[in-house]
Amino acid sequence: MYQTLLTALENNILVITINRPDKLNAINNLLMTELGLAIDEALANAEVRSVILTGAGVKAFAAGADISELNGSREEGMAIAKKGLDVFFKIERSPKPIVAAVNGFALGGGCELAMACHFRVASENARFGQPEVNLGLVPGYGGTQRLTQLIGKGRAMELLMTGAVIDAATALQYGLANHVYPQDELLDKTKELLQLINTKAPLAVAWVIAAANAVHDEQKNGYEIEAKAFGDCFATADMQEGKSAFLEKRKPVFTGK
Ligand code: COA
Repeated sequence: MYQTLLTALENNILVITINRPDKLNAINNLLMTELGLAIDEALANAEVRSVILTGAGVKAFAAGADISELNGSREEGMAIAKKGLDVFFKIERSPKPIVAAVNGFALGGGCELAMACHFRVASENARFGQPEVNLGLVPGYGGTQRLTQLIGKGRAMELLMTGAVIDAATALQYGLANHVYPQDELLDKTKELLQLINTKAPLAVAWVIAAANAVHDEQKNGYEIEAKAFGDCFATADMQEGKSAFLEKRKPVFTGK
């Protein structure tokens, strides 16, 4: 049981709902702690094949870090950023797919959270932005890096410097959101996508996440990671099953082995 999150597991999909709607789901310290714990639980629970992150209510996914808690010394500021970075890396590096269903404002830390997910599906009223400069701040949970990776340097620089907020149609055009749906369809459409992914071989899915993430990791050679994963697949029961099913003209049944 969490104080700031709701969780619901259905059809092997865990929906984690950020639940501070009266504060537009602003991410306070407790919420960041609980989010890290909820991701740990999702990774440890074999029943969970994939995860959706969304926000309670119809107005916000998360309107940023909780501004009322942004106090203290330089070192304390850095510690706030570091804690969030660690939780968001855990999301980004999760071997199980984690998708953001952005149901409203995704600003500041909310936008950064959505960007740490493997991809984003948005409702028509979704709004994205990194408005930290309005507060005399910079993003602290990876926003300068992931926004640049996702939409390119020029567009990211403009958004980061102006603090401008973009609507769902612009986010779709920029590639920040993969799909835009009416608010009341958002969760079902996101679940449909994950149900499709959940029919695929789990190890193969985990390895495409790791290889794609390596693009933005200077310590890693993504081509080598991909080639190794390709070879590792040969040693899995699921690849044998996938091949047999194709040749026998039937649907594969994967076991994650
Ligand atoms: N931190 C803390 N509280 C926040 C918050 C945040 N990031 N974003 C919203 N809230 C709170 C408001 O203070 C308000 O609380 P109150 O009812 O106790 O006064 C409540 O959520 C509703 O927000 P409100 O501003 O009244 O809603 P709005 O519809 O007028 O405006 C936004 C919506 C998103 C434009 C506006 O809330 C906003 O600009 N939020 C901050 C966004 C931001 O700068 N994020 C980056 C933080 S680093």
